[in-house]
Amino acid sequence: MQVRGSIRVPGDKSLSHRALLFAAMAKGESHIGGMLTSLDARSSARVLRQLGAEISVLGEGRVVTVKGRGKLRRAETTLNCGNSGTTTRLLLGLLAGHGFKATLTGDASLRKRPMRRVTVPLAQMGARITETNERGTLPLTIQGGKLKALRHEMPVSSAQIKSCLLLAGMVGGVGVSVREPHGRSRDHTERLLRSFGYSVEDAPDGWIHFDPTGHLEPFDMQVPGDPSSAMFPVGAAVLAEGGELRITGVCVNPTRVGFLQVLGRMGARVQVDGVEELHGEPVADLVVTPANLVATEVTPREIPGLIDEIPMLAALASRARGTTTFREVGELRVKESDRLGLIAENIRRLGGHAEVQGDDLHVEGTSLVPAGTVHTEADHRIAMAFAVLGTVPGARVRVDNMACAAVSFPGFPAMLKAIRGR
Ligand code: S3P
Repeated sequence: MQVRGSIRVPGDKSLSHRALLFAAMAKGESHIGGMLTSLDARSSARVLRQLGAEISVLGEGRVVTVKGRGKLRRAETTLNCGNSGTTTRLLLGLLAGHGFKATLTGDASLRKRPMRRVTVPLAQMGARITETNERGTLPLTIQGGKLKALRHEMPVSSAQIKSCLLLAGMVGGVGVSVREPHGRSRDHTERLLRSFGYSVEDAPDGWIHFDPTGHLEPFDMQVPGDPSSAMFPVGAAVLAEGGELRITGVCVNPTRVGFLQVLGRMGARVQVDGVEELHGEPVADLVVTPANLVATEVTPREIPGLIDEIPMLAALASRARGTTTFREVGELRVKESDRLGLIAENIRRLGGHAEVQGDDLHVEGTSLVPAGTVHTEADHRIAMAFAVLGTVPGARVRVDNMACAAVSFPGFPAMLKAIRGR
C-alpha cells in the first residue's frame, strides 16, 4: 500500500483523564479542548459526574466544560470505571483524601488488574480500603480521610501508581516522595501539579519529592494528539510501499516518545517537525516515510517510555530483518489483557515467529505475508496493532474484535482507510 496525506489523531488519553480529574477538583469552570471522546475518557467523565462535578457532553470537536466544586461529593452508587485503569488508580488517589466511602468497580478486564500497588501505599497514608476478594482487585471500597506523608519505593515504574500517590498528597495536603525502579514513566501529573504552584522535584537519585505548596484553579487547556494512538498510523506508514504521512499536533513529551528512538534504530524514518510548547507539553508533527526494518534490542530502562507502544513495535519487529528483543516486559501481563502472551500468540497465528522467555519477548522477522485470525481478548491496542499489520500487501488478517479500538481511538478503522493512497 501507499500512504498519503495529513491526519490528526484523537486527544491524548493520559492528558484527557488528568484534565478531567484536575478540573473536577478545582473550584469553578474549566474548559478543555481537543479532549479524547473514547470509552476510557467517558469512564472518567461518568464517575466524576457521580462525584459531583458538572461535565458537559464529550463529543468530537467540542470544548468540554467542567464545573468543579473544589472537592468531590459522596456518590450515591458504585463508580464503574469501565475498562480504564488510569481512571481507577488516579481516582483512588483523590478519594483517599475525602472523608466519605466510595466503591469502585469495572469491566471483566479491569476487575483482574492489580490494585494493591496503589491501595497498599494509600493505606499507609491513612485511607481505609475494604477488599472483596483475596487478590485485592476491584470491586474495592475506599474510606478516605486525613492523610499522612508518604515515602514509597514503587515496585514497578508506573505513571498510574506515581500519579495516584501524588494526587493523594495534593488532596491530603501532605508531602509524598516516590521512587521508580527502572526509568521514568510519563510525567504529565508532575507537569500539571507544577503549573498550579506545587513543588515537584525530580531528584538525580530517582526520587520524586512532592510538597503541597500549590493551589488548584480552574483552567483552559488544549489536549494535544495522543502519541500512543499516533503509533498506529506511524506503523502503517513504515510498512507502506511508498508515499509519506504527516500526523499533526502530537504530544512529544520525552517520557512518551521512546518509540521514536527504537524506530530510528530499526531504520524507520520518522521526523519530528516544528516542536511547540502547548500548556506545558511539547507538541509537534510526525512525518513518516516507509522503510525496510532491521531488528533491535529494547532495554529495560526504555520500557516505561514506550509501554503502550509495544504491541505495534512488536508487530513491526515481525517484519524486520533479524530478531528483536524487548527486555523485561513482564508488566505487559497486567495491562488490558495479558499483552505479553497475546502479542507472541498473534504474531505466531499470522505465520510469524515470537516467543516469551521469562519476562523477555523475542520477535523474529519474516517477509512471509501475514495471514490468519487475531485473537484480541477485547484489548484495543492488540486489535489496532494487528489491524495495521494487516495492511502489508497481500495480507489476509481478520481481527476478532475491532470495535474495542473505541476504548482509546474512536474512528480508527476510518483513519486506516483514509491514509491509504492508490
Ligand atoms: C497511563 C500509564 C500507563 C499506561 C496507561 C496510561 C497513565 O500505565 O500503560 O495506558 O495515563 O498514567 P502504568 O502506569 O500501569 O504503566
